Amino acid sequence: MKRVLITGTNSGIGLQLARDYHRDGWQLVACGRNREKLEQALEGIDCELCVFDMLQPEPMQQAVSELSPLDLVILNAGNCEYIDDASQFDAELFARVVNANLIGTANCLAAMIPQIKQGGRVAVVSSSVTFLPLTRAEAYGASKAGLDYLTRTLGIDLAPHHIEVSLIRPGFVDTPLTRKNDFPMPGRVSPEQASAAIRKGLAKGKSEINFPFGFIMVLRLLSWLPHRLWAALARRTARSDK
Ligand SMILES: NC(=O)c1ccc[n+]([C@@H]2O[C@H](COP(=O)([O-])OP(=O)(O)OC[C@H]3O[C@@H](n4cnc5c(N)ncnc54)[C@H](OP(=O)(O)O)[C@@H]3O)[C@@H](O)[C@H]2O)c1
Repeated sequence: MKRVLITGTNSGIGLQLARDYHRDGWQLVACGRNREKLEQALEGIDCELCVFDMLQPEPMQQAVSELSPLDLVILNAGNCEYIDDASQFDAELFARVVNANLIGTANCLAAMIPQIKQGGRVAVVSSSVTFLPLTRAEAYGASKAGLDYLTRTLGIDLAPHHIEVSLIRPGFVDTPLTRKNDFPMPGRVSPEQASAAIRKGLAKGKSEINFPFGFIMVLRLLSWLPHRLWAALARRTARSDK
């Protein structure tokens, strides 16, 4: 039986992936930083729980080192906060988001790569925010752009070690993370749709999984605009949202 470890399984995309892989017969290692929340979210699902905060590498290393070898690791846990007023740049918020998304993922990689079987795969959940600079996303976008570079480079450097790497960039997904957004979210998909797209891409061994298709196409087209034009458009869209 194949074994998958997923981080952030008490909520949103991670919870749906956990339900779906379990239903498909995988052995599940479900990770979260709060045991009570994890147990509640995964009630009735037979799985191994692995409790750690991604920002505390030592206890994480300890918890992960006790696991049996893994076929698939999905580093999904992350956070989003926006810079509301760039003229009063909030460096603490910036550090919080970069720590959660980029440094937290790096801590997971350090602990988990040694646990992945030869021929196994590690997948990192970034975001479609990295296609374009979006207003107020200085911290979230920078953290996810860092993840893109990290993941692509890792794909090159882990290949000789027989570990495959996938970069996952979702558009908007209806989860607690986006429910607090106060702006329109075009093309938003359900967690079920997100999980299906991710699982299909991983089963095909894709190195990049971007979805939903239509929204990603629009972002790709917009990313070809000269920056000045895009910046004017982004500013106008931001003003009309207010
Ligand atoms: N929803 C979207 O539209 C969207 C789009 C693109 C990318 N993404 C990415 O998809 C991933 C999952 O997001 P989601 O929408 O499913 O959000 P979510 O429902 O808020 O889930 C985020 C998960 O990450 C966990 N987490 C955060 N910081 C952690 C830490 N320091 N240590 C351990 N766990 C931590 C959370 O645990 P707690 O509950 O304990 O905080 C939660 O389980 C994130 O990386 C997000 O950036 C989401």
